[in-house]
Amino acid sequence: MAAKKITTNALLKMKANGEKIAMLTAYDFSFARLFDAAGIDILLVGDSASNVMAGNETTLPITLDQMIYHAQCVIKGVNRSFVVVDMPFGSYQSNSEIALASAIKIMKETGAHAVKLEGGEEVSESIKRIVSAGIPVMGHLGLTPQSINKFGTYTVRAKEDVEADRLKKDSQILEEAGCFGIVLEKIPAILAKEVSENIAIPTIGIGAGKYCDGQVLVMHDMLGINTEFKPRFLRQYLNLQELINNAVQLYISDIKQSTFPSDQESY
Ligand code: KIV
Repeated sequence: MAAKKITTNALLKMKANGEKIAMLTAYDFSFARLFDAAGIDILLVGDSASNVMAGNETTLPITLDQMIYHAQCVIKGVNRSFVVVDMPFGSYQSNSEIALASAIKIMKETGAHAVKLEGGEEVSESIKRIVSAGIPVMGHLGLTPQSINKFGTYTVRAKEDVEADRLKKDSQILEEAGCFGIVLEKIPAILAKEVSENIAIPTIGIGAGKYCDGQVLVMHDMLGINTEFKPRFLRQYLNLQELINNAVQLYISDIKQSTFPSDQESY
């Protein structure tokens, strides 16, 4: 029997029932297939692809067409998970018409289920237009990496009252604008708790503590592909860097010693 697909309604129900939501990034077919089969609820084609796939320092350089390419690969590996695609820097900030056109292009060319964009009140008009066109939108508040040049650092956001109050208001504005969920990145756990309790849509935390309705991590971080990145919020579930290094060294050694291929591995 085919697995029951995750929808925005299912995500809302999960929050209402107190069932936590598991979200992970994916950027290609093979990993998307593994994560979907393992039971991940939401796959995020994050613009962190700019960092972990393209090797850029920030998320700013990745283009709309590059995000679409990653999303096309991911969607082919998915049966059950809900696939959200990040709208990249420059594809929605100018005005709501451009934002709508970018969101439509993503949905038309990828078959994904929703888009995500960063920001609060300043992007609420764009969110309303995208949602009116029938496209589910996920918000993203707190540390918003596309604004790194404004922030200057990747440290915890909204520790002071003024920024915390702004974030609380923004979360309500995003809910009213029609978002089906909000990523809360790197904010104090107690603030994420208050936000999560005050809105009906699910909050998905990354570095935002245990009271969020779900959690998201970048796959390269949680699988230990990049072990140099060690923020406090990260739980590393595997040391893939070490496993891959050992496997590749063994492969090299087998070739150098002419033990690969064997007769059984030859025609
Ligand atoms: O691009 C990304 O991976 C993200 C997550 C950090 C939430 O936006």
